[in-house]
Amino acid sequence: MSHRVAVLAGDGVGPEVVAEARRAVDALGVGVEWVDLPWGSAWYHEHGRMMPADWEQQLRGCRAVLLGAIGDPSVPDHVSLWGSILELRQRLDLWANLRPCRLLPGIPSPLAGRGPDDVDILFVRENTEGEYAGVGGRAHRGLPGEVGVEVSVFTRAACERVIRLAFECAAQRRGILTSATKSNASRFGYVLWDEVAAEIAAEFRLVRYERVLVDALAARMVRSPESLDVVVASNLFADILTDLGAAIQGGMGMAASANIAPGTSEIGIFEPVHGSAPDIAGQGIANPAGALWSAVLMLEHLAEPDAAARLLHALEDVCRDGPRTRDVGGTATTREVGDAVVASLAA
Ligand code: IPM
Ligand code: MN
Repeated sequence: MSHRVAVLAGDGVGPEVVAEARRAVDALGVGVEWVDLPWGSAWYHEHGRMMPADWEQQLRGCRAVLLGAIGDPSVPDHVSLWGSILELRQRLDLWANLRPCRLLPGIPSPLAGRGPDDVDILFVRENTEGEYAGVGGRAHRGLPGEVGVEVSVFTRAACERVIRLAFECAAQRRGILTSATKSNASRFGYVLWDEVAAEIAAEFRLVRYERVLVDALAARMVRSPESLDVVVASNLFADILTDLGAAIQGGMGMAASANIAPGTSEIGIFEPVHGSAPDIAGQGIANPAGALWSAVLMLEHLAEPDAAARLLHALEDVCRDGPRTRDVGGTATTREVGDAVVASLAA
């Protein structure tokens, strides 16, 4: 059986890293039929929007999207992102963003004296509401009394589903769930989140649940990352924490993510966390590891666990033995890393 997968390579280094992920998936021989989507910032300049109005129809029949990156200095970020990835996450109700944060052997860590045994965290990010609800407005533009209002929205239903998923993940891993909020200062949404988490904790007696303030958690990720197993947090908090997470797993180039709606047949979107990196775009030096790892998550979503495991092993082999790109201590090009992954798959 073959899987239809859309490729939204997008902007900046997106096309460079996605090409390697795609080649690796082809080398696995799982039968993927790729559908190229030309959307992104260049498309915006031609059409006045980031994606066609009928994007949902165009995605029909695809089980997944492999996404490179969206964002270019020529389009304001809030325009390009609300016209693409944020729209996709919300409209497809891809409410869970899974971000594995593991330091792979061979990848240097910026944390002194820490190694792969110390950094293995799964972030479960709420992906449709919270601080990213998109609710708010501007008034009195240009006047001294100008205002900008951005409202966070937390619903019991959305808190419940993402927190329950995080407990389920923790039960399958080392049995520790850390929930991060800021309910000492913000009295409404985060307090609701905490209450829901405490309720669900009662259903998972074998998982050790802890509630941590997000500022303290940031410090703890640096000081004792080994104490963390699964972390669940709101859209913005997990966005910030996963950049810190990417740093401690060797850098932005290493981090992968899955935007999914577990328990449904909805399409999943798989993207490296690094973004379009316009400063190094077109040079062939971007680290494809985050895109390759995202392809691993995609294969799991496509119910191809063996292929997913093989690709992850190949990525681990190449991280350990090289070649590596310069952001992780090597000198290799994007392509050379991709070649090495394909070679490892064939070995
Ligand atoms: C991410 C990115 C996005 C986010 C941006 C590009 C809107 O930073 O996927 O982490 O904040 O979700
Ligand atoms: Mn981010």
